[in-house]
Amino acid sequence: MDLQFVTYEVANGIATITVNRPDKLNALNDAVMAEIDAAFRRAKSDADCGVVILTGAGEKAFVAGADIGELAEQTVRGGKEKSLRGQRVLHNIEHLGKPVIAMINGFAFGGGLELALACHLRTLAAETRIGLPEVGLSIIPGYGGTQRLPRIVGRGRAFEMILSGKPIDAETALSFGLVNRVAPAAELREATEKLAGAMLGNGPLALAMAMESILRGTETSLEEGLRIECDLFGIISSTEDMREGLNAFLEKRKPEYKGK
Ligand code: COA
Repeated sequence: MDLQFVTYEVANGIATITVNRPDKLNALNDAVMAEIDAAFRRAKSDADCGVVILTGAGEKAFVAGADIGELAEQTVRGGKEKSLRGQRVLHNIEHLGKPVIAMINGFAFGGGLELALACHLRTLAAETRIGLPEVGLSIIPGYGGTQRLPRIVGRGRAFEMILSGKPIDAETALSFGLVNRVAPAAELREATEKLAGAMLGNGPLALAMAMESILRGTETSLEEGLRIECDLFGIISSTEDMREGLNAFLEKRKPEYKGK
């Protein structure tokens, strides 16, 4: 698929996926969503990609939300289908099997923040405000915002953010645990790459299974979650990478993982 609204670049193990529609502050229409999905599929099968950074083109916005012009033409049935399609794209990001960091370089409103919530980690430019303003347009978040936000920040904070529609600043986002790092815009890339670098040298299968254990385990009881964890621990014990990781430690050398 040729990408028109999204760019994909890979360097030093990090794939950067950039939503590239800066004249509309990278707003998400159906075509942009399909291209984001295609770019993440590419990252999944790209052997040179260990971690993904998702960001927005231009200096102003990460993603300023779903495309309001497109939403205005929505029918009842179309609304549900659009929400379902978007939720599937975000589900694929969450279950990519590689860590994904949303580098929120500017406005992240509505669908833009929901996109970032589907990523595993988030970094935020210190000057930026983020929020879910949908109710101000008399719609509700439809790309998982009512579900992922309370799971990350707790219900009380999510109720306030979603029902007031008011954006929060970077300091508040950090104190809510909504973002992992805050840095001035000029230093955001460096801070985000540092975070990515801390994950890159680790066993790729271990990263995938740890993420799967967290994602599946936190949606169920502790007992069931512990069962998921020990099943995955059993599977990782059968891999060449596990042997390589343990032997490298004992032999005092750097491990060379093959993803097998
Ligand atoms: N959907 C479609 N177009 C959007 C958009 C969106 N969510 N957000 C911004 N744009 C477009 C604007 O219409 C404008 O296009 P134009 O130049 O053709 O008129 C362009 O992007 C620049 O936006 P503008 O509003 O002029 O920039 P600003 O700096 O004055 O304001 C925002 C920035 C983010 C505060 C403002 O654009 C905004 O409130 N956007 C909507 C945010 C929102 O409610 N998102 C949730 C949607 S569910």
